[in-house]
Amino acid sequence: MNRLNGKTALVTGGVGGIGSAICKKLADAGCKVVANYIDEAHAQEWKAKMAAEGYDFAIVKCDVSSFDDCKAMGEKLNAEFGGVDIVVNNAGITKDGTFRKMSPDQWGAVLNVNLMSVFNVTKQFVDGMMNKGWGRVINISSINGQKGQFGQTNYAAAKAGMHGFTMSLAQETAKKGVTVNSISPGYIGTEMVMAIAEDVRNQIVAQIPIGRLGKPEEIAALVAFLASEDAAFITGANIAANGGQHMM
Ligand code: CAA
Repeated sequence: MNRLNGKTALVTGGVGGIGSAICKKLADAGCKVVANYIDEAHAQEWKAKMAAEGYDFAIVKCDVSSFDDCKAMGEKLNAEFGGVDIVVNNAGITKDGTFRKMSPDQWGAVLNVNLMSVFNVTKQFVDGMMNKGWGRVINISSINGQKGQFGQTNYAAAKAGMHGFTMSLAQETAKKGVTVNSISPGYIGTEMVMAIAEDVRNQIVAQIPIGRLGKPEEIAALVAFLASEDAAFITGANIAANGGQHMM
């Protein structure tokens, strides 16, 4: 059933592991999907691959850590699509290291790409959503924003910050039909997780009661649900999908 016909969705980091699955699931639900990217060659290759699978995605280049870049993206998409109804703040990076070894650059890059971006991107579209009386902001946080993680003071701080943003903006937009929610994925089988040293990764998988990494589609399904009309009463929530690794 196409429950999101006529809606436009922007997925930041849309050409990545979880991002691609989110783009597909929202398109399957009837959305016009715009995937944001930063690396031109990778994005063109991705667009062609998606077209071969039958998906006609729009793509937009933007460094989400730059407010000026996001402003330009906002002006372009608001003009081209008459606003964006669903924003999925999914772009994220890791630069892991113990705090004692962490450089200011490692800290700054992760905070800028993972958290400043949420302000930079959401800012461009919330007025339009509130004026229309309908909108969805979905922030892809992380299990490690809930429980912390050895080697991730930067990432965990950014991901926990995302949910603070979620709860606050949710209160400001609730009366105007705009919901704001976080999803906290656990360890999902993407390049980001496969980049962890194998022995460390195996120890992490051993802590997941379901006994395996998650699939990008399992996060995308939750995004599509939160975007749907069925989820209209859910706002300011942080929904975990982590195979039972962490419960709160
Ligand atoms: N808990 C407690 N102690 C630990 C530990 C842990 N998890 N990991 C390592 N240590 C210990 C080591 O045994 C070592 O002890 P000794 O000095 O006594 O030998 C000490 O801490 C220092 O360890 P290292 O020298 O290995 O530190 P490092 O800087 O080389 O490596 C690290 C640290 C790269 C962060 C490594 O621990 C690591 O890769 N951890 C995993 C980080 C992780 O989970 N990242 C998630 C990426 S995916 C993602 O973020 C997606 C998502 O949302 C889930």
